[in-house]
Amino acid sequence: MGRKQRVLSGVQPTGNLHLGNYLGAIRNWVEGQSESENYLFIADLHAITVPHDPATLATNTYSLAALYLACGLDLNYSTIFVQSHVSAHCELTWLLNCITPLNWLEDMIQFKEKAVKQGENVGVGLLDYPVLMASDILLYQADKVPVGEDQKQHLELTRDIVNRFNHQFAKKDKPVLKLPDPLIRKEGARIMSLTDGTKKMSKSDPSELSRINLLDSADEITKKIKRCKTDPIRGLTFDNPERPECNNLLSLYMLLSGKTKAEVAAECQDMGWGQFKPLLTETTITALKPIQDKYQQIMADKGYLSSVLRDGREKAENIAKQTLTQVKAAMGYSMPF
Ligand code: TYM
Repeated sequence: MGRKQRVLSGVQPTGNLHLGNYLGAIRNWVEGQSESENYLFIADLHAITVPHDPATLATNTYSLAALYLACGLDLNYSTIFVQSHVSAHCELTWLLNCITPLNWLEDMIQFKEKAVKQGENVGVGLLDYPVLMASDILLYQADKVPVGEDQKQHLELTRDIVNRFNHQFAKKDKPVLKLPDPLIRKEGARIMSLTDGTKKMSKSDPSELSRINLLDSADEITKKIKRCKTDPIRGLTFDNPERPECNNLLSLYMLLSGKTKAEVAAECQDMGWGQFKPLLTETTITALKPIQDKYQQIMADKGYLSSVLRDGREKAENIAKQTLTQVKAAMGYSMPF
């Protein structure tokens, strides 16, 4: 039997994890984990590409690591680590920066969107963010990268960088960097805001009512669903472009209840919002409760969490260093040994 496929992904420790992050990414990491070798990290270097508060960066990093475990990542299959603990991420970023054309980065949709929001105060890091992301992936020679739809363009850029690097620096039949494939599940890849079904659910939306966070209390969840945007039409249906909120809320119900699309379509076809909203509320609270309980347990044992991250760092560093050495050799850096 060949080696297991290597899976790599990460989330930024900026703000609370919401249902989009969970259903678009983390849940998929957990589901497939026993079939692959998984490297899942907390992207704390990406978190400083927008203005950040040093006092909360470390707290958010720990809290996110605890959430990874609470969501079901199993250390028998998955290595969990913090991006900034493995210095090879920064080093490879510099090397790849020097072969990445500026206009590739200027074309990135997320850069354009975030740059507009920041006005004149845009740091170089925001532009360079996708090269750091490419380095994260390539250091581990990942086969698959499970992410939500919004990361697709960054994955395409990563593949372009691989092709360019191998073309310039590798021998024809011996690529140095591996071409990764994005893993974007159709269901859950784009969870939309609760206040506007045409916008994705996002940590940076100023309105708390727009998203449900994994650590929201039952009262908060109830309030957010009660106040979420709907429409005046009776009978709930999927896939009607005129009813983006309806499609999003039915999808949430489907994913959180574990029912199939056909089952949900049949169950809800004659419902009004007054009947559906309490059902979605109950389902969401029930689905998140075990994650929240486990999170509290893990957070109560800081020593355990630190040891998980220490082990993770060691394993990650071993692999990352090997790739970095190969990349440097290919680029003409000789090592003094
Ligand atoms: P981040 O922290 O913005 O989001 C983490 C993951 O959640 C997914 N996601 C969504 N999925 C569905 N619906 C939504 N509304 C939604 N919002 C977010 C994202 O697609 C992502 O999978 N750059 C990355 C972190 C990163 C990374 C990497 C990922 C850094 N290096 C290497 C993979 C591989 C980011 O900012 O994700």
